[in-house]
Amino acid sequence: MKIRFMYTICFTAVILFLLVSCKSNNEESTMVEKKSFGKLSNGDEVFIYTLTNKTGLKAEITNYGATVVSLFVPDKNGKLEDIVLGYDDIEGYEKGESYFGAIVGRYGNRIARGKFVLDGKEYQLSINNGENHLHGGKIGFSKRVWEVLGVESKMGGSSMTLKYVSKDGEEGYPGNVELTVNYQLTADNELFINYTATSDKNTILNPTHHSYFNLTGDPNKTVLDHLLMIDADKFTPVDKGLITTGEMADVANTPFDFRTSEAIGKGINDVNEQLKYGLGYDHNWVLNKHQEQIFKFATAYEPISGRFMEVFTDQPGVQFYSGNFLDGKVKGKHGVMYQQRTGFCLEAQKYPDSPNKPKWPSPILNADKTLPYRQTTIYKFSVK
Ligand code: BGC
Repeated sequence: MKIRFMYTICFTAVILFLLVSCKSNNEESTMVEKKSFGKLSNGDEVFIYTLTNKTGLKAEITNYGATVVSLFVPDKNGKLEDIVLGYDDIEGYEKGESYFGAIVGRYGNRIARGKFVLDGKEYQLSINNGENHLHGGKIGFSKRVWEVLGVESKMGGSSMTLKYVSKDGEEGYPGNVELTVNYQLTADNELFINYTATSDKNTILNPTHHSYFNLTGDPNKTVLDHLLMIDADKFTPVDKGLITTGEMADVANTPFDFRTSEAIGKGINDVNEQLKYGLGYDHNWVLNKHQEQIFKFATAYEPISGRFMEVFTDQPGVQFYSGNFLDGKVKGKHGVMYQQRTGFCLEAQKYPDSPNKPKWPSPILNADKTLPYRQTTIYKFSVK
């Protein structure tokens, strides 16, 4: 009798456990949703995935360009608002030239005249920015359809993994490159971006993420009142075509000094040759802690909404771009015409034109598949 009673207790406990775990699995599995994002001009359908976490953050990501279309983050009163620029539909992304929210590559940023030498051979990449190569060329990773390898919900967050195989010779680059990008929205309100890549020939690779943030949640406002900190004593000056000159200049006593938080707008209109070339900030900062594995290199704070963003990476540099080329002609989400400086990017990367600057951290990816490319960049959100 006693034994039967024990069996009944155990049996009931197992059933209860199964029911509870089933319920939590179901709850978790509701954290990623997939729907159509329409058709490209060639008729191919693309999709949009909604990732959420247990605190209500929401990221919408399309497999076209592995692009973050929207990112809903609470302000200090808990109001969720979209804090990234983008387009309403796939047509906008297909035609657009601003790289909103995309993964750019094979080489994010500029390569002078699209030329570089690797293993004694000169390569000519496609030219798409004046006389230079920018963000992977005419049809870079941001304008490709990525394969979705999987979505997952766990530990109060959700994630998706995308893959793009870039063919040998694409845009002039050597080697078949297989790149996977894993986006994770964690329970701690972080957007993790993990990159892994291999190649079957020696090549160059420098992918980055190109979200334009506006922490006010209102893209009609500029980002000039955001307080920005970049932990960097030096930046890499550019020439008129925004190609790095090879120097590293001190930020001290210049408008490039963001070592303590400063309003983006404070020095942006100063008389300064570098600011003139970029129409504002469009430069690479040399990150102080780049010998460390993953480190915090920037923060941005928007005082009215209270939104605070911290950014971490394992990369040596960051391109801080203050949205200078937005000119009111780009029709963004909800029909808003994006005006100059209504979004800013913090693109973790190797220093621009590094294939032609042998002393700088190398963007070379060897054919050795046991040494894959890896990058982690994290945007973390809170309020103050
Ligand atoms: C570049 C800018 C460019 C923008 C959009 C940024 O990463 O530094 O010069 O205009 O991307 O293309």
